[in-house]
Amino acid sequence: MSELITVILAAGKGTRMKSKLPKVLHKAGGKPMLQHVIDAAKGAGAKRSIAVVGFEAEMVREAISVDTEIVVQAEQLGTGHAVLQTAEALKDEKGTVMVLCGDTPLLTADMLKAFYEAHDKSGAKATVLTAIMPDATGYGRIIRSADGMLQKIVEHKDATEEERSIREVNSGIYCFDKEDLFSALAEVGCDNAQGEYYLPDVLDILRSRGEKIAAYATEDYESTLGVNSRLQLAEAEKVLRTRKNRELMEQGVTLMDPATTYVDADVVVGNDTVIYPGTWLEGNTVIGSGCEIGPNCRFTDVKVGDEAVVSFTYAHECEMEAGVTVGPYVHIRPNTVLKKKVHVGNFVEVKNSNIGEGTKLPHLSYIGDCDMGSGVNMGCGTITVNYDGKIKHRTVIGDNAFIGCNTNLVAPVTVGDGAFVGAGSTITKEVPADALAVARAHQKNIVGWADKRK
Ligand code: UD1
Ligand code: CA
Repeated sequence: MSELITVILAAGKGTRMKSKLPKVLHKAGGKPMLQHVIDAAKGAGAKRSIAVVGFEAEMVREAISVDTEIVVQAEQLGTGHAVLQTAEALKDEKGTVMVLCGDTPLLTADMLKAFYEAHDKSGAKATVLTAIMPDATGYGRIIRSADGMLQKIVEHKDATEEERSIREVNSGIYCFDKEDLFSALAEVGCDNAQGEYYLPDVLDILRSRGEKIAAYATEDYESTLGVNSRLQLAEAEKVLRTRKNRELMEQGVTLMDPATTYVDADVVVGNDTVIYPGTWLEGNTVIGSGCEIGPNCRFTDVKVGDEAVVSFTYAHECEMEAGVTVGPYVHIRPNTVLKKKVHVGNFVEVKNSNIGEGTKLPHLSYIGDCDMGSGVNMGCGTITVNYDGKIKHRTVIGDNAFIGCNTNLVAPVTVGDGAFVGAGSTITKEVPADALAVARAHQKNIVGWADKRK
């Protein structure tokens, strides 16, 4: 089999989305639609993928994986015109070019692979992937001759009433012999309802030249769904969520309520982890085995070790090692590492900090810009005073330190290993290892004061 090259059309604005963002960058399952298509192409074995971009080209380039080649279509004159822009990039290539659209985020690598193999075996110069749609509105319709052979594709806007009743549609996915594709494209005109150069016209041109063209019908219409509107985006989103949840359950993850569990496409979860309702796992989040996550957690780019128990927590760009217990009502912010068995209790915020093994932050604390050792106990309401209005300063706390309740640690400041700090202290100077620091006003009792007041 020849080596697979894919061309992904992504230059359109997506007018029907009514958005400043190019359509193909709208996310489904937490990932830009175009990236889903790129990933499916790669999974199907594509050695090169070329994205044709136009509207907000720079923004698209920056949002997708770096190994995707980019060709710019300055003016969007139609899908045929878009493919034509890749002529230079493909000039030394031979064999099969698969054309895909950037607005079909449900494609799977398996489907593309099967389609490519079928095209390769058939000996056709062009094959179109078709599907029977429950609602074919908007799609190009597949016109077959009396003997069932593919004749041509008619766009919805150009179709007659009778043609519009056909539910077999063009998925927008094709395999072409490269030479035939470009020689036919040179003949494609724009005499149609939209005044555009239609890629599907290539099939008609090749057929009239006596070349073999084919239609490959997939049973799985859902995977070919194109997104042109916000409504269709929501439908695609739902399919991706359902697929991901099913995949996780098949891998041994318990989802207490799949309907309220939202897991992005690239998230990894270990087996025997239980996910409670109302949980969002986003971006490149990776969760270990045997964890209990949720209810009501939102993790974005978070790494969690095995057997962690985390509830009612928002965490982003941070790491929690094995055996941590976190929550409820916790915010873990970027650049934070909670080492093994750290405990973070209710109403605690941790930011840009390293928290050592087995350390406890049980209640009502703000810990920012802090390097904390292992075995530390932070009393209720202790805070790091990290910001002087201009600069953020770090707090350093040694192993096994014991910080009393309601302490302010005014950074930059260091508390040594094994030191104690009395409750209610405001610490502004270094506390040496194993010392006790008390920094608060002495208590004065005035005996009988209340009686005199009466
Ligand atoms: C297209 C097909 C239609 C098919 C449908 C499947 C044509 C003429 N029609 O219609 O037969 O059923 O896809 O979803 O091909 N694009 C460019 N440059 C352009 C125009 C479009 O890159 O000049 C890109 C768009 O960004 C989009 C893709 O091509 O990703 C498809 O374009 P779109 O306008 O959505 O075509 P449809 O009307 O859906
Ligand atoms: Ca489309």
